[in-house]
Amino acid sequence: MPADIRPARVSDIDALVAIENAVFVADRISRKSFRHLAGATTAAVLIADAAGRVVGYCVVLFRKGNLAARLYSIAVAPGGGPGQGRALLAAAERVAQGRGCTALRLEVRDDNDRARTLYEKNGYRRIGEVPGYYADGATALRYEKSLVDEDKPALRELRRA
Ligand SMILES: CC(C)(COP(=O)(O)OP(=O)(O)OC[C@H]1O[C@@H](n2cnc3c(N)ncnc32)[C@H](O)[C@@H]1OP(=O)(O)O)[C@@H](O)C(=O)NCCC(=O)NCCS
Repeated sequence: MPADIRPARVSDIDALVAIENAVFVADRISRKSFRHLAGATTAAVLIADAAGRVVGYCVVLFRKGNLAARLYSIAVAPGGGPGQGRALLAAAERVAQGRGCTALRLEVRDDNDRARTLYEKNGYRRIGEVPGYYADGATALRYEKSLVDEDKPALRELRRA
């Protein structure tokens, strides 16, 4: 059954911390940070809720005056089921579009094949890399996706004007 994607509530924080501990070995988001992010106007924390069980989350950050939102983190719990990452990524894009952003950017470890596959299959293009970005010295690859619907005739006309 596909999960519902919804904003996180304070009551989800335990589940978020559990996912974080299960999937990341370093650079984890702390309980305090999740609590802060869930209440911040500059962030959206989205949850994949499968019949009451939190099976994944993503965090999108916004900066005033910046039309590019940032996918700060995304994770699916072990056994969360296929397709949850794709659904969360699509929800992150919708929430960024809803806040007027025209692009979504992210960083990913260069050795994270599964996440890179997810991004590349969903239209993200590589825009750079940052050696030593992670705590263990691993390189980050930067990706970006345009959230502007290039097929909309009205937008095409606007850009030509
Ligand atoms: C990255 C992550 C969020 C993806 O979520 P997911 O639910 O596994 O992703 P999905 O099932 O929606 O899709 C992943 C894609 O990767 C592909 N994939 C599956 N296993 C793979 C593997 N071992 N190597 C490369 N690609 C793989 C799948 O084919 C799938 O594409 P498709 O279904 O369109 O064919 C999840 O694996 C995760 O939480 N990983 C640990 C945390 C993490 O690395 N987060 C990202 C930090 S940038």
